[in-house]
Amino acid sequence: MRIIAPSILSCDFMNLKEEIKRINESLAQWIHFDVMDGHFVPNISFGPDIFKYFKNNSSLLMDVHIMVTNPQFVGDLFIKAGADQIVFHYEACADDHEVSALIKHFKDQDIKVGLSLKPHTSIDVIETFLKELDLVLIMAVEPGFGGQKFMVNALDKLKYLKEYRTINHLEYLIQVDGGISNENKELCYKAGADCLVAGSYLFKQDNFNDGVNSLL
Ligand code: DX5
Ligand code: ZN
Repeated sequence: MRIIAPSILSCDFMNLKEEIKRINESLAQWIHFDVMDGHFVPNISFGPDIFKYFKNNSSLLMDVHIMVTNPQFVGDLFIKAGADQIVFHYEACADDHEVSALIKHFKDQDIKVGLSLKPHTSIDVIETFLKELDLVLIMAVEPGFGGQKFMVNALDKLKYLKEYRTINHLEYLIQVDGGISNENKELCYKAGADCLVAGSYLFKQDNFNDGVNSLL
């Protein structure tokens, strides 16, 4: 499976109407929203009102990546605004019990749920949650900013997730986020990624759909 999820963090916010149009007219299947609180990560992005402009003007799947210290509160705000999928950070939770409780809390609201790991978090921590998850997001940059360099240690995590999924007959999707371009996309697919998140690479293209195509 090859899903492209443009991260609108890098779009032109002076020109949202055009940006939504070029995403809709491309072969991208999802839209990726990077929600940052200035606490879990050293940056602040946008809230549910900006998100709703996209929700109300696109039928693509709304993939919301919350980089926040209070994932339940923020996740619920975005579910109310129309998120189809909430992806929260393992590192934002106090313990495994909180991770499980949050997965259940979001699933009970009939949306897809993903769990994300920062680049320096070991993949081992995720095993106990894999059978409950719709998606795992492997960060290939430190969360907080677009335009950073892809960290190759993400590839081993992708391989682990793919193997584990096959051996255990599970169905979660594997997503990778950060520094994605046409130069590393094949490595990511080969290692196990089903979905590539791309921000700066896509939004700097003159022809957005050519950019999406180059990642498919
Ligand atoms: C980083 C975000 C990413 C980022 C990707 O915290 O989670 O989604 O916007 O941007 P690029 O593709 O420019 O690395
Ligand atoms: Zn993201």
